[in-house]
Order: sequence, then structure tokens, then C-alpha cells
Amino acid sequence: MKTRGAVVRQAPGKFEVVNLEVDAPRQGELMVKMAASGLCHSDDHVATGDIPVGVYPFCGGHEGAGIVEQVGPNTRGFQEGDHVVFSFLPGCGRCRWCASGYQNLCDLGAGLLAGSRWDDPTDFRMSLDGAPVGQMCGISTFSEHTTVAVESAVKIPEDIPLDKACLVGCGVGTGWGSAVNSAEVKAGDTVIVMGVGGIGINAVQGAAHAGASQVIAVDPIAFKREKAMELGATHAVGSMEEATELAKGFTNGQGADSAIVTVGVTKPEHVGQAFSAIRKAGTAVVTGLGDITEVGVPIAISELTLFQKRLQGALFGDSNPSTDMLKMLRLYTEGNLKLDELITKTYSLEDIQQGYEDMHAGKNIRGVIVYN
Ligand SMILES: NC(=O)c1ccc[n+]([C@@H]2O[C@H](COP(=O)([O-])OP(=O)(O)OC[C@H]3O[C@@H](n4cnc5c(N)ncnc54)[C@H](O)[C@@H]3O)[C@@H](O)[C@H]2O)c1
Ligand SMILES: [Zn+2]
Ligand SMILES: [Zn+2]
Repeated sequence: MKTRGAVVRQAPGKFEVVNLEVDAPRQGELMVKMAASGLCHSDDHVATGDIPVGVYPFCGGHEGAGIVEQVGPNTRGFQEGDHVVFSFLPGCGRCRWCASGYQNLCDLGAGLLAGSRWDDPTDFRMSLDGAPVGQMCGISTFSEHTTVAVESAVKIPEDIPLDKACLVGCGVGTGWGSAVNSAEVKAGDTVIVMGVGGIGINAVQGAAHAGASQVIAVDPIAFKREKAMELGATHAVGSMEEATELAKGFTNGQGADSAIVTVGVTKPEHVGQAFSAIRKAGTAVVTGLGDITEVGVPIAISELTLFQKRLQGALFGDSNPSTDMLKMLRLYTEGNLKLDELITKTYSLEDIQQGYEDMHAGKNIRGVIVYN
């Protein structure tokens, strides 16, 4: 069927809204009518070329929610009308990682940027003028309709508004989990969150939820610092130098228990700053992405060894999408996790480029596309 979707034709490039063809779902697949999609920085990395993808044009978007419109033949677990949030990380449920509580590391993730179906690099569900169009993380939430594998969809209760629920598909799980799971924030901790976007704000919420005494948010933009203070930060400063000094002040000179890097375009020196800010046996968590070909981080090997510091990567905040997305939504309905407050502005799909310009200008905690 015909649909409108936002694609990048090359990188560096910009999202352009075009008429796409989206195929009917086959076995093990769903066609979903999108309700809303967050504008995560990771799609911008695809547009800038920081993250190269398997095929262009490439239809973006990986933080979305919608309603199942068609279920493929002989496909169990879903029916028409189900409300779903997409997981940008598929979960097969069978591989070593899925079977041992690391669903975020599912082997199907190897095909995340290929744009095709997981099992066949030549098999696509979207096309433009007869040519294949890649799907971001196999889902492409920047499209009115999309066809996805069941491994990418999580059924959610119907009373949760989809335009808020979409956020748990990436930003919330990633940020909250970076604090709670990856940094293992404990009651009384001093935590630094570096970069207050859709990811960092949820690291702030997660750290506060876990009982941190001091949550120090760092962002060069004043509006971001204000928002961080509203959502759980105890302090908000413009630089890591100030944050490090503050953290030392609270810990008798030792340093932060953890520092979480959620900078939009993460560079090696950001990781170095976070590593320098933590105490002995503390944890620096790297959640942000940048140029993915970049190698090497400036950290003192002596601090790594002799201070026994930990440097921890985090994909979707070390969360298991199938269970943790529902947990996030439960916390939301109980009033213990804020979602409404994360959405600074909503856009139509046609205005997606404006949404990304606003993200770059630091105007949004999260911009969200709302479909009709
Ligand atoms: N690991 C994962 O699973 C995962 C998932 C989603 C997103 N990401 C990545 O996380 C990062 C953040 O995404 P987002 O959507 O929140 O981006 P965003 O652009 O909304 O927010 C990034 C924030 O970083 C701030 N910033 C820039 N330079 C800084 C500095 N030197 N110190 C402190 N703050 C600084 C910006 O002002 C901005 O507020 C991106 O790199 C994205 O690709 C990773
Ligand atoms: Zn994302
Ligand atoms: Zn798996």
C-alpha cells in the first residue's frame, strides 16, 4: 500500500517526506498504523553519516507506537487492533543473549542498520519508485504505515496514550536503564548525567528513582538544565569541570559514584571527562553515540588499574525490551515516571526537518511526531 514516510537519500543528508510503498505483512510480521514517533538523536546520526546504513534511501525512526492493522498469515501473539510499542532492538527469545537476560543484545540486532529483514539482506518491505528502501532498526517509525517483524513489537495496555508510550521504545528505557541497570545507582549516590536530551533526562529520572542523593545534570543549554531540575536533578551545571568539582564536594574529594554520558554527538573526550569525574571503583557509563568509526578514548590507564574504575557501555540501558518497556509504562501509570513532561513539542510528519532543527538548536527535550 501507499504511505508517507521520511527518508534520507544519502548521508550526509536530510529527512525528506516522500510517497513510499509498504508491503503487506508476511508470516511473522505485522503492519502497523503509526500513532506517534519520537525524534531521537540516533536517526540524526544516520542523516549526518555518523552511523552509515546498509542501503539508501533509508526510512528513519525507531521510537514509535501504533495500532496493528494487519497480522501476517500464521502469525501468533498479535491481533488486529492491538496497541504496540516498537523495540528498536529485536528480541528473538531464543539466542544466548535473549535466554540469559540480555535481550538488548539479541543476535538479530546484527541486522539493525541493514534495512532489510533479519534473515535476508536482499529482502525489504518498503520501496520508493520500485527501488528498495531500508528500514531503521527494521521498523521505520517515520512512516504512516510500516511492516515489521513480530520480534520488534511489544503489546501494551490500550489505556496508555500512544503518543506518550512511544517514548519507552528508546529514550526512556535507554536513559532510565543507563542509571538503574548500567550505573547501578544506589540510594545515597552522587551521579553525574552528561547531556540532557531525550536520553539524559531519563537517566536523571532513573538516578533519582534509584535514590541518588545528588543528581548533577550537565548541559551547556540553560533550558535543558531547568528541565533537569524539574525532573529529578538536584544540581544542574554547564560543564563537566563544574560537575566534577561539585561531585568531589559531596564525596570528601573522592568523585562521583557514577557518571553517565548521554551527549548528542559523543566524542572520545566526553568519555574521558566522565572517567575522570568518578571515584575509585566508580562507574562511567557510555550511552551516547557519535562517529561510529572513532576508536580510542583518552583515559588514564593508571586510574583504570589502580583506582579500579569501571568503564561500562550501555545499549538500551541494559534493559530487556519485552519486560522493561512494560515496567516503564507501569511506573508511568502509577505516577512514578514522567512521560508527558518529556515532550517539548509535537510535529506532523511533514515537519520532521523542523523537529530535527529544533533538536540541534537545543529547544526540545523530546520532539514527537504525532500522526493523524
Ligand atoms: N546506547 C543506546 O542504546 C542509545 C539509544 C538511543 C540514543 N543513543 C544516543 O544517545 C545520545 C543522546 O541522544 P538524545 O536523543 O538524548 O540527544 P539530544 O540531542 O536530544 O540531547 C543531547 C544533549 O547533549 C547536550 N550536550 C552537547 N554537548 C555536551 C557536552 N559537552 N556536555 C554536556 N552536554 C552536552 C546537548 O545540549 C543536548 O541537550 C545520542 O548520541 C544518541 O544517538 C544511544
Ligand atoms: Zn533512540
Ligand atoms: Zn535473541
